[in-house]
Amino acid sequence: MFLNDDLKIFSGSSNPALANAVCKYLDIPLGRAEIDRFPDGEKVIRVEDDVRGRDCFVVQSTCRPVDEHLVELLIYLDCLRRASAKRITAVIPYFGYARQDRKDEGRVPITAKLVANVITTSGADRVIAIDLHAHQLQGFFDIPLDHLMGELVLGRYFRDKKISKLTVVSPDVGNMKIASRYASHLGGELAIVHKRRMSGSEVQAREIIGEVKGRNILMCDDIIATAGTLCSAAELVKKRGAEKIYVGATHGVLAGPALERLKLAPLDEIIITDTIPLTEEAKKLNSIKVLSVSAMLGEAIKRIHKDESVSSLFNDF
Ligand code: R5P
Repeated sequence: MFLNDDLKIFSGSSNPALANAVCKYLDIPLGRAEIDRFPDGEKVIRVEDDVRGRDCFVVQSTCRPVDEHLVELLIYLDCLRRASAKRITAVIPYFGYARQDRKDEGRVPITAKLVANVITTSGADRVIAIDLHAHQLQGFFDIPLDHLMGELVLGRYFRDKKISKLTVVSPDVGNMKIASRYASHLGGELAIVHKRRMSGSEVQAREIIGEVKGRNILMCDDIIATAGTLCSAAELVKKRGAEKIYVGATHGVLAGPALERLKLAPLDEIIITDTIPLTEEAKKLNSIKVLSVSAMLGEAIKRIHKDESVSSLFNDF
């Protein structure tokens, strides 16, 4: 494409398919490194390309197994720093621990902040992340962070779909801003579900503010974890007379009962992105379609490397 040997992209083991797709977009080879384990289980990384004075990016989602992928990222950053990379960017398409971002009861940690700290002290000069659950998480990092939004990819898909009688539904109050952006860009009405979380995996959708009867629904969320939020909201809007229900969510964490719930829920299409690779079991669910964030990430990396604006990427959504 354009780039010289000055730009290097490396992949952790969480999502090599995405890292490869980013390299394909940029038309550069993936950086060579060996990720191995010592007999006692400790991980060791050896970067095989010369990175001295280079602009290096490490693509690693901290998805399941979360702690293993996180530690691997930290080791990678340290490895590149000690190999004299000029600048190191941690590209974290899915940032695990993002939801542990506050002390909402006594004697609990703020793990999202802790993780941001260790990423920085391990050697990251900057971070690229996608849909960090709460925008204020950007402030947990004391280094520059480019916050990309899955809605650039998901929004284009739904725009091309031209859904008639559209109502965008936020499955909880926290997601209202995103839903309202979708509604204004796609030209639909807006509705919000009031939910109550009983536990980590149990959620009850209580009430809907807005009209859903006879409407086609786009439900958008940042994360589908146990799918409790999404499925209980879908059941409620269906009960209130909604027609088709589409889902657009950036991160398909799909933990615990998620697949079983998604199978049974009244959902016509579930669109997620490849920030987290799908398990073999999830691939069997026909209603799930995966869109790639590789072009968005590749474009952001190119612009950062060339000191160009990243925010202007979002001008056309
Ligand atoms: C909540 O604030 C988030 O936006 C998601 O709605 C939530 O994390 C999804 O979790 P689950 O799928 O387990 O209900």
